[in-house]
Amino acid sequence: MKDYSILITDDEQSQRDILYGYLKKKGFTVFAAASGSEAIKIVNENSVDIILSDYKMPEMTGLELLPRVKKINPEINFVIITAYGTVETAVDAMKQGAFDYISKPVNLDELDLLIEKIIEHKNLKAENKLLKEQLVEKHKLSSIISQSTKMDEVLSVASRASQSKATVLITGENGTGKEVLAKAIHFVSPRKDEPFIVVNIPALSENLLESELFGHEKGAFTGADKLKKGRFEIAQGGTIFLDEIGDMTSGTQVKLLRTLQENTIERVGGSETISINVRVLAATNQDLEKKIQEGTFREDLYYRLNVVKINIPPLRERREDILPLIDFFIGKYSEENDKQNIGISKEAIDKLLKYNYPGNVRELENIIERSVVLMRGQTILESDLSLGVKGLSQESEIRKGEAGTLTEQVEELEKKLIYDALRQTNGNQTKAGELLGLTERNLRYKMKKYNITK
Ligand SMILES: Nc1ncnc2c1ncn2[C@@H]1O[C@H](COP(=O)(O)OP(=O)(O)OP(=O)(O)O)[C@@H](O)[C@H]1O
Ligand SMILES: [Mg+2]
Repeated sequence: MKDYSILITDDEQSQRDILYGYLKKKGFTVFAAASGSEAIKIVNENSVDIILSDYKMPEMTGLELLPRVKKINPEINFVIITAYGTVETAVDAMKQGAFDYISKPVNLDELDLLIEKIIEHKNLKAENKLLKEQLVEKHKLSSIISQSTKMDEVLSVASRASQSKATVLITGENGTGKEVLAKAIHFVSPRKDEPFIVVNIPALSENLLESELFGHEKGAFTGADKLKKGRFEIAQGGTIFLDEIGDMTSGTQVKLLRTLQENTIERVGGSETISINVRVLAATNQDLEKKIQEGTFREDLYYRLNVVKINIPPLRERREDILPLIDFFIGKYSEENDKQNIGISKEAIDKLLKYNYPGNVRELENIIERSVVLMRGQTILESDLSLGVKGLSQESEIRKGEAGTLTEQVEELEKKLIYDALRQTNGNQTKAGELLGLTERNLRYKMKKYNITK
């Protein structure tokens, strides 16, 4: 607690005194200001971590104070204290970068929780900064871009897990960055100078997969004309990344389970037991728990793999990452294509910010790459972006669970069919209309009704 300093800004002395005394007793370094200008002076002269500021003050409101102190120190976490029920003020403050709000009269338990949350957030940020520095330095992997709290949490777990030998199961939709994260974990781990071996499970048939993973002896099967070391042996001392683990057949699952339990392998067709020291990372975009219920994935293997579980949320659930990713990919692809000073129009950015990204980061990357390659001028325009129809509306998912009225359900279905038709025809309305048996005009009417933009 001693490491954190809190500034209370309130024109009412009694209010200041209560909070001052309370926080001081908790061991914080506490400052108090009776006005916005006093607060600015204190921030200029001291290291302040958290500001608790009243909204309503005569000379400068809390909302006016917020951008000024952020300008001096962007790391400050600003909490606005609002009169009970004035939600708009709170919302405005959040929009301008306040960390949170608390209503008056301040409930001290609530304040405790809030401060705890801020400290946790600060620690996370510091940890991630370290992880990122390590990544950049060790493997020039400045590639993990993150701005959102959700990704910060992902990176924080990854950072802690990286130092151990624990098996990590990374889940997430296609293109969310599972492989990048697996690599990053390896390259910040103590095994970083040893091999990182990727096995793409669906690319190999069951027999081939077993001999790839565990190797085979000479003569083990027709065509095995010499001894072959498996990827576990090649990864000795390092990390093996089992990509799309949900596609592993049950025979191989048993063998993998044994390997994880005993840290040994046997080559196909061999009888010798070979000790291995390999860290296992696995990834999947499938719901393994569902597969367990269906009987296609072993529960015991799942628990072995799932020692640390990291779920990477889809991009549409961490929209703060979109902008920095755009920036990053423009940089990457302008360099690759020898183009300098590439910009992007505000309309194009708006469109990208609203898009739904069914293909996640990979889709965003492809969109930017394509526009950088095909653009004519120096600025990426809205017309340079080719976005898939599927991601254009956030309402394209059919409601699960509570089904809604018949009309609602029919409308949902209609909407989905229109999306599908548009996607299938690459957004060609004439052809989509034909597929659906609608005139183009009728289709356009329905698209308007359902707010479907092309
Ligand atoms: N946070 C990120 N910062 C920068 N690039 C990213 C990030 N996340 C993903 N990418 C990029 O997006 C692409 C897809 O990432 P990756 O292959 O790791 O996804 P995945 O989850 O393994 O996808 P799939 O399930 O389809 O195999 C890669 O080119 C990767 O570099
Ligand atoms: Mg992958």
